[in-house]
Amino acid sequence: MLKPDALNAGNIGGITKMIEEAGFKIVAMKKTRLTPELAGKFYAIHKERPFYGELCAYMSSGPIMPMILEKSNAVEDFRKLIGATDPKKAAPGTIRALFAKSIDANAIHGSDSDANAEIEGNFFFSQFERF
Ligand code: CMP
Repeated sequence: MLKPDALNAGNIGGITKMIEEAGFKIVAMKKTRLTPELAGKFYAIHKERPFYGELCAYMSSGPIMPMILEKSNAVEDFRKLIGATDPKKAAPGTIRALFAKSIDANAIHGSDSDANAEIEGNFFFSQFERF
């Protein structure tokens, strides 16, 4: 999911180019916007974390672009491609090193397991939106 900072900065093209060049097929993609309640549902796993309120406020502050991506070993390879959550710790050449502004405005989210990828894909897309 591309976050509001990535869309506001005009980085949709730059980031999706890196995703495709890394061998991911974009199966579904759209521009949409979360309400604070929907952001809270999406990130329910972080409900007890101190940054949860800020995270939900930020993720509903502007448009986002969720995607379903396909590749062998996708979860692990995508996490390598995007880099560490905190852009200050992201390896050079990763999406977050190149495009993220802060730990909240960190350009992109990636699912952390196949099971969560399934849940998160279903959160945004119906079966008719996947090709
Ligand atoms: P993301 O991969 O979308 O998953 C949860 C998000 O919470 C994370 O990226 C960060 O943007 C945000 N966040 C804010 N503060 C923290 C923190 N201290 N640790 C982890 N994630 C944080």
